[in-house]
Amino acid sequence: MDKIKIIGGNQLNGKIYISGAKNAALPLICSSLLTEDKVILKNVPQLSDITFLNSLLENLGLKVIEEDTLLESHTTKKYTYQADDIKELVAPYDFVRKMRASYYVLGPLLSRFRHVELSLPGGCAIGARPIDIHLSSLEQMGAEIEIKNGYVIANARDGLHGAHVIFHKASVGATCNILMAATLAKGITKIENAAKEPEIANLIDLLNSMGARIEGKNTSILTIEGVEKLHGATSTVVADRIEAGSYAIAAAITHGKIELINANAEHLQQPLRVLERMGIEVIEKPHSIIINGIDKHIIGEDIYTDYYPGFPTDLQAQFMALMTIADGASLVTESIWENRFMHVPELCRMGANINIHGHASAIVRGVKKLSGAPVMATDLRASFALVLAGLAAEGETIVNRVYHLDRGYEKLEEKLKGVGANITRIKETD
Ligand code: UD1
Repeated sequence: MDKIKIIGGNQLNGKIYISGAKNAALPLICSSLLTEDKVILKNVPQLSDITFLNSLLENLGLKVIEEDTLLESHTTKKYTYQADDIKELVAPYDFVRKMRASYYVLGPLLSRFRHVELSLPGGCAIGARPIDIHLSSLEQMGAEIEIKNGYVIANARDGLHGAHVIFHKASVGATCNILMAATLAKGITKIENAAKEPEIANLIDLLNSMGARIEGKNTSILTIEGVEKLHGATSTVVADRIEAGSYAIAAAITHGKIELINANAEHLQQPLRVLERMGIEVIEKPHSIIINGIDKHIIGEDIYTDYYPGFPTDLQAQFMALMTIADGASLVTESIWENRFMHVPELCRMGANINIHGHASAIVRGVKKLSGAPVMATDLRASFALVLAGLAAEGETIVNRVYHLDRGYEKLEEKLKGVGANITRIKETD
């Protein structure tokens, strides 16, 4: 298993190109299952989650063509997908186990082919992660669903029909799945308490350009009028706001200055305001954000994770890394996932002073310095928090289980080296 070695203490300066968002690309890719025509996606990040999803879908019969293309003078991936010969309607355990977002096949396959079997996603390191909202909404739309031998088996013999569904939580995954399912359902579907993340707007734009009729973008009430058929279209994956937020902390924690090229400040309002309150200068430009931590005195601040536009849970761990070296105390409250403080014991091994209260709150009392250590995390964002701590720490940090980082951070070492970090990947066979 690969490891990452960081020698901390370098001030990071320069520019980092922000990639397309993994969490936007995943549902966009699955929406290609809704039509027999070609769906072309640009700015798709090169990540193991994308490779997993592509191979799951190729296994079903989806044609996938990968090409390099230039986007604002950066080489990015363009994919052409065509679902004109789908032979399999089963997403097996081996794929779903590796990537929970495999559940995005549910809505499109059931809607277009009237049948789907999905290995039931289990819990994962950050929480139980149920899919009850996805399933109960599909049932309201006419699906018959049974759970057998660890699989969700869904049938819609007469096709799906529109329904009025009210989510008990503003789930991102359920919003995308039900949006995709409703595009080809008979009649009108109304989703109340839909999620409003920018990745959902990206999906709505693609679906509408494929001929879907969706209204209510960026609001919590979405109305979808089903159509008979969708056609091909082209879309560009929106910039990854979580990657941008993560590298913003890299600038702040090393007292450096980084311009996040292609980042969209509008999608990061809460985290940027928190950074400012922590003493970091933030300059928002039309197609980039400058984060300036040079000679800044970092001060503690509280955060509470919430649904978009609230503070994103996917940036909680990275901000906590910054809080460990801030002046004063910070209170972190995690409201989305029940088990998302796995980075805390590892940060403490590097000298941080953090106390967890119950499942949802942690008090971080800033220390003068962190010191390097061998560490590991059990999820993607927590792993990046450890990289950040390593960048600021004295001495050598080895981050184990790098496969988590490869799921969500494109060209991680290259990007950090490019702004002056001392970071190397140690290739190891188990
Ligand atoms: C997505 C993101 C993930 C992020 C999360 C919250 C992807 C691939 N992943 O995950 O990085 O942390 O949004 O911003 O886009 N819930 C239920 N029942 C359901 C579905 C969800 O109770 O059927 C609950 C969850 O337990 C959680 C909350 O709703 O407490 C939000 O989950 P959800 O938005 O669905 O997360 P994902 O889409 O899986």
